[in-house]
Amino acid sequence: MEVIIRPDKEKATELVAKLIAKAVRARPSLVLGLATGNTMEPLYSKLVEMHRKEKLDFSKCRTFNLDEYVGLEADNRNSYRHYMDEHLFSRINIDRRNTHLPSGTAKDLEKECEKYEQKIKKCGGIDLQLLGIGRSGHIGFNEPLSAFFSRTRVKALTPTTIAQNSPLFDRPEGMPKRAMTMGVGTILEAKRIVTLVVGDSKADILAKAVEGPVTSMVSASALQLHPKCIVITDAAAAAGLQGKDYYKWIFENEPEWDEFR
Ligand code: GLP
Repeated sequence: MEVIIRPDKEKATELVAKLIAKAVRARPSLVLGLATGNTMEPLYSKLVEMHRKEKLDFSKCRTFNLDEYVGLEADNRNSYRHYMDEHLFSRINIDRRNTHLPSGTAKDLEKECEKYEQKIKKCGGIDLQLLGIGRSGHIGFNEPLSAFFSRTRVKALTPTTIAQNSPLFDRPEGMPKRAMTMGVGTILEAKRIVTLVVGDSKADILAKAVEGPVTSMVSASALQLHPKCIVITDAAAAAGLQGKDYYKWIFENEPEWDEFR
């Protein structure tokens, strides 16, 4: 795992946007794994800006989101489909037919999860997966004790996640208590992973994910097993990392990062 600490949230977000843009330019038909949450909103604004000002072209891109709430229609303003349409898809030149999320209202949820896995396979797998980390240590909605070999499935959400996400709902008590999510195993099969974590509320969980033992109690710690995973963070979220000076030294001395410094 490679950890890059930027001075603030804006610089961390900008670096992730540049990495995504570089990958899209190198492979226009990139299969991009996408995430939701507050952390991603400024990132998607940045990608929209790059599309408008630098002609970043998403016309051939294919996308797969990590997760969706069970029971929410696509046009429900709290669904992740709605979030993606609002923050990204409607503002760039992506073909909506190439954007995928599991349907939270499918009659047979188990079958919908299997179909989602097959669609990812049919596209040749995910080239670049974008991730955030929830306060419970989840990636996607893989709550503590998710098996590292798990695939897309329905998961019950923990009280920590419900407390974190329910204020975003029009009626917080109406937040679904279950979600469909790519499994930890699905995520680990992505060819490359970029994880964006910012803010002091994530300092404890980030330290556990990056430097703690690999344990299913912290799903994000599974990322330590991935051969090509970058974690991009800001000084506030990095405050609890023991190796922060070392990560800084590597970033400053690694020629591969020259163009991003
Ligand atoms: C949700 C999503 C995760 C995301 C997490 C972090 O629960 N399912 O994929 O990483 O939120 O959210 P935030 O960026 O709002 O802290």
